[in-house]
Amino acid sequence: MTDSNPRRLQDLFENNQRWANRISTSDPEFFAKLAAQQSPEYLWIGCSDSRVPANQIVDLLPGEIFVHRNVANMVVHTDFNCLTVLQYAIDVLRVKHVIVVGHYGCGGVRAAYENADNGLIDNWLRNIKDVLHRSRARINALADEEARINLLCELNVSAQVANVCHTTIVQNAWQRGQNLTVHGWVYSLEDGRLKDLNCSVDGIDQIPDVYRVLP
Ligand code: CO
Repeated sequence: MTDSNPRRLQDLFENNQRWANRISTSDPEFFAKLAAQQSPEYLWIGCSDSRVPANQIVDLLPGEIFVHRNVANMVVHTDFNCLTVLQYAIDVLRVKHVIVVGHYGCGGVRAAYENADNGLIDNWLRNIKDVLHRSRARINALADEEARINLLCELNVSAQVANVCHTTIVQNAWQRGQNLTVHGWVYSLEDGRLKDLNCSVDGIDQIPDVYRVLP
């Protein structure tokens, strides 16, 4: 099958040239500096949703934020992709903040809330169903379905923040005295604003005994 609209891909290259020219004009050394080294202070773990692009939302340039995105901003303990990003960000780049960023109206969270058959993705979304199951009473107390799903979006972020903290990677960093805080934020598609869910964790004493890794 041939590309029905080859013009559009060409647009992307043209956009790229304009963008690179614009940055080089304002800072001729920009790309040379970045090519030599990256030293971001933040790791963003967000949803793959095209409406939630990390750099643009927090208005940061290339080089300033390390990013991992998947469906519904999950941190699953057997996901070597996410764990690899986490380890590289903490052990090598030495980021100071890991930020799990959910968003209201998340399609992945909605799919987990519903009981439809979506195929393979349902296995991934099982992790959110666990959050839903644990907080069923609190969620059902809300009458409006959209409000329920938005609450589940927030609870899912808190659960993933806990998952980040329970990894050996984060706990080992704390044990060696590295300055590292894990945060949970949620983004509104409707007004472009981020909200801090105030569930930040910055030490091993703040996680339940059962998850602690002690030397
Ligand atoms: Co989403």
